[in-house]
Amino acid sequence: MDNKKTWFVTGASKGLGLTLVKHLLTAGQSVAATSRNAAALTEAVDTDTTNFLPLQADLADDSSVAAAIQSTIEKFGRIDVVVNNAGYGIGGSIEELSDTVTRTSFDINVFGTLNVIRHALPFMRRQRSGHIINISSIAGISGNTGWSVYAAAKYAVTGLTDVLAQDVKEFGINVTLVAPGAFRTSFLTADSLVLTDTPIDDYTAIRASHAKYATMNGEQQGDPDKAATVMMELVNMPEPPLYLLLGSDAYRRALNKLEQLSEAFKASESLTKSTDYQLNF
Ligand SMILES: NC(=O)c1ccc[n+]([C@@H]2O[C@H](COP(=O)([O-])OP(=O)(O)OC[C@H]3O[C@@H](n4cnc5c(N)ncnc54)[C@H](OP(=O)(O)O)[C@@H]3O)[C@@H](O)[C@H]2O)c1
Repeated sequence: MDNKKTWFVTGASKGLGLTLVKHLLTAGQSVAATSRNAAALTEAVDTDTTNFLPLQADLADDSSVAAAIQSTIEKFGRIDVVVNNAGYGIGGSIEELSDTVTRTSFDINVFGTLNVIRHALPFMRRQRSGHIINISSIAGISGNTGWSVYAAAKYAVTGLTDVLAQDVKEFGINVTLVAPGAFRTSFLTADSLVLTDTPIDDYTAIRASHAKYATMNGEQQGDPDKAATVMMELVNMPEPPLYLLLGSDAYRRALNKLEQLSEAFKASESLTKSTDYQLNF
């Protein structure tokens, strides 16, 4: 990378976050990274560089996020790139997942992202520069059966990112939604993934979908090292994309979804337009 930036990465003790942090430090970037467990993060990153600030944060807790951002500013003086990476999959039909389990997933997948953005933006606005990268998912563009709550959370990330980009454009702040397909991380392991513990036998399609995902663990096509390299390229682009799909599977699913939406909208065109007032001029 040609210039040195300060990065703030959430959920960095494993997977895409950890891989990105390691690449950034190797490239001489300054990195503040959060984890639920700072000791695990420090052990995983395994570096003695002063460019690294490991932070323990509860992303669902607004004051914990505020403190993490403040510590980053105190150490590095600025934040150039935020990567809202922390997140996890949650599987089950809506009636198989309790209100508590459902809300907890939104706490991390959605509200954690909002909390980080809320506290980072005042600094980025003052700088009149910055780049916010929100890791959504192809599930936030085209969800699969058995993952409705996860899709809802990632669609929320997609929606907030889309509008955020418009809101902060006048401050010179870039925003990118990264939507990965399947990547070879801990995502599908029991450590990360939450599956319903009250399955209902009627849902045969959901059980089949979950069984298929279980066989994918360790075989995913996406390479986290390559994802890290792409995210580092992204911030040096003069005009970075608002949407960036990662992986051939994500590309295929997103384009299929576009076609489905286009067909569905056109199929109901006359019904859709029938609700307009008739204007006689
Ligand atoms: N891998 C994929 O196939 C895939 C596909 C599409 C989207 N994504 C998205 O990519 C991001 C990174 O996931 P990954 O693939 O790297 O998975 P991962 O290896 O499981 O890592 C996820 C990270 O998110 C944090 N996290 C996980 N569960 C959490 C919880 N219950 N509460 C708080 N933090 C939690 C963890 O941070 P700490 O333990 O350090 O706190 C962890 O480092 C997520 O947002 C995920 O939804 C992944």
